[in-house]
Amino acid sequence: MIKIAVVQSKGGSSRSTTCFNLSTALQRQTNGRLLMVDLDEQGSLSSSFLATIPTDNTVLNIFEGKPVTPTPTYSSMIDILPATRELGTITAKANADFEIMYRLADFLDGQTTYDMVIIDTPPSIGHFTMSALVAAEWVLVPVSTQIYSVQVLDDVLDVMMKVKKRINSKLRLLGVIPSITDRTVVSRQIQNELTSKFNGHTLPSISRTVKIEESHIHRKTVLDHFPSSVVAIEYITLASAILERIKKDTEGKANG
Ligand SMILES: Nc1ncnc2c1ncn2[C@@H]1O[C@H](COP(=O)(O)OP(=O)(O)OP(=O)(O)O)[C@@H](O)[C@H]1O
Ligand SMILES: [Mg+2]
Repeated sequence: MIKIAVVQSKGGSSRSTTCFNLSTALQRQTNGRLLMVDLDEQGSLSSSFLATIPTDNTVLNIFEGKPVTPTPTYSSMIDILPATRELGTITAKANADFEIMYRLADFLDGQTTYDMVIIDTPPSIGHFTMSALVAAEWVLVPVSTQIYSVQVLDDVLDVMMKVKKRINSKLRLLGVIPSITDRTVVSRQIQNELTSKFNGHTLPSISRTVKIEESHIHRKTVLDHFPSSVVAIEYITLASAILERIKKDTEGKANG
């Protein structure tokens, strides 16, 4: 199972939007079964997929050691472990008991029906982001190309490297995604900065467009709601680049 955590400590970086739209793009290109995991109590990813969130069957159950069944979405190949505001109630317990941080990893290790899992995280490096980094193999970092968005990247990568060194040696940077780009000078400058800083790790970008929010309203990804739009094609290109990178890594390992 390919396990991807979408992490960025700066709020509004398009983490949830990236998870949502990449789900369809990755599913179509792999023809696999996907599990989406919402680790943000804001529940943005959950409400993108679901009109009603089953409150007794959320990702919180995993941290509380209770049984949970992922909820089906409009796509028969994509399920979700949703989050609600209640998720925050585990934080105090998790601060007192480090073992709770490993429960998502254990849950995913026991899954046999999914080919890929994508984990959305909150805009902070706390218990939930740590749980995602402990459970994942790959880290995707969306960066909205606005002022101050690059500075916080060093903090995210620093935490990722610490988790890799101490807890989860499989963890690797899959890439940095310029996630809300436009034609402004600042946006272009930041995209250039990302390309020079992350050289081989900068992934194809996603443009700013109202189609993102319009498709959200209909609870459909842009690929399903605006299939021939520029942004749908950008997500397809991004998914191809992600799968290519994972494939290269897997082949590299197989060849020793
Ligand atoms: N390419 C895009 N074009 C236009 N708007 C976008 C794009 N990507 C994301 N957005 C919008 O930007 C806002 C932030 O996106 P999103 O909620 O995905 O970010 P986030 O990093 O998950 O934020 P939060 O910190 O709230 O969890 C949302 O209103 C979303 O609809
Ligand atoms: Mg979000």
